[in-house]
Amino acid sequence: MQFILILKIMSNNLLAGKRGIIFGALNEMSIAWKVAERAVEEGAKITLSNTPLAVRMGTTNELGEKLNAPIIAADATNVEDLKNVFEQSMELLGGKIDFVLHSIGMSPNVRKKRTYDDLDYGMLNTTLDVSAISFHKMIQTAKKLDAINEYGSIVALSYIAAQRTMVGYNDMADAKSLLESIARSFGYVYGREKSVRINTISQSPTITTAGSGVKGMDNLYDFAERMSPVGNATADDCANYCIVMFSDLTRKVTMQNLFHDGGFSSMGMSYRAMEQYIKGIDEYRDEDGNIVYG
Ligand SMILES: NC(=O)c1ccc[n+]([C@@H]2O[C@H](COP(=O)([O-])OP(=O)(O)OC[C@H]3O[C@@H](n4cnc5c(N)ncnc54)[C@H](O)[C@@H]3O)[C@@H](O)[C@H]2O)c1
Repeated sequence: MQFILILKIMSNNLLAGKRGIIFGALNEMSIAWKVAERAVEEGAKITLSNTPLAVRMGTTNELGEKLNAPIIAADATNVEDLKNVFEQSMELLGGKIDFVLHSIGMSPNVRKKRTYDDLDYGMLNTTLDVSAISFHKMIQTAKKLDAINEYGSIVALSYIAAQRTMVGYNDMADAKSLLESIARSFGYVYGREKSVRINTISQSPTITTAGSGVKGMDNLYDFAERMSPVGNATADDCANYCIVMFSDLTRKVTMQNLFHDGGFSSMGMSYRAMEQYIKGIDEYRDEDGNIVYG
């Protein structure tokens, strides 16, 4: 009873009556997992989608049962699979879709530890297809099926490496640049014709299965934390932002890359990061405290 009361207080029914599709919930750490939970809490009915392998090996089924959300397996690079997701979702949820989350990313080059100046181009194609072109495929499929309601909201998750070089992010940086560009290009076409909104949210480093694949993730996470005046945004924070973007409160926000990073993207140097940096160079001072160069 008390639990239900707490849930009710937390929910503002921002998505009451809305239907959504959430791609990319693999396990409890996944950003998509948190978004799915919050969307249902806010009154939405949803379907979940992930690769057949992820559905078999991951814990997506648990989430589906908990949220009463049907799971439709799909490889997001396969247009026929995507068509099936939209058709089935409309049938199961009882009408056109109001919001879609693309929370998908994978780089075989990163997985195989290929450096940026030694990329395997077959793998690069896969990185771009899975992490960026799948977004285009998703939107084009939805548009052809006329599957999204007016002022529907489509969101994909990005990272600041799309715009500024970040060590270790490798070819995922190129994929994210393309992802953000697709949001603008398709945002124009879909907005003009059907008032459908398309945005990317550029999220702080977050400890998840995909995030942990990035070389030096722990240090990157720590650096971003020290640089951001209000700290890194967590997966739960990201879920809250996605809910606002799916809601009717943001009907005129489209074609944007929205930074959700505790202020990181506007910082040059923070006191906390500087303090940490100074500690790091202490060992290069001589006994009189003078910095030793070289
Ligand atoms: N974790 C971070 O630090 C961080 C920061 C900014 C942005 N992001 C982005 O957030 C999104 C979600 O990642 P996450 O951190 O929650 O990790 P995650 O590993 O939980 O999610 C990635 C998902 O992509 C799915 N996927 C991979 N290939 C697919 C395919 N061919 N078809 C369909 N699904 C496929 C995986 O099964 C998985 O569910 C990604 O786009 C990621 O780049 C993550």
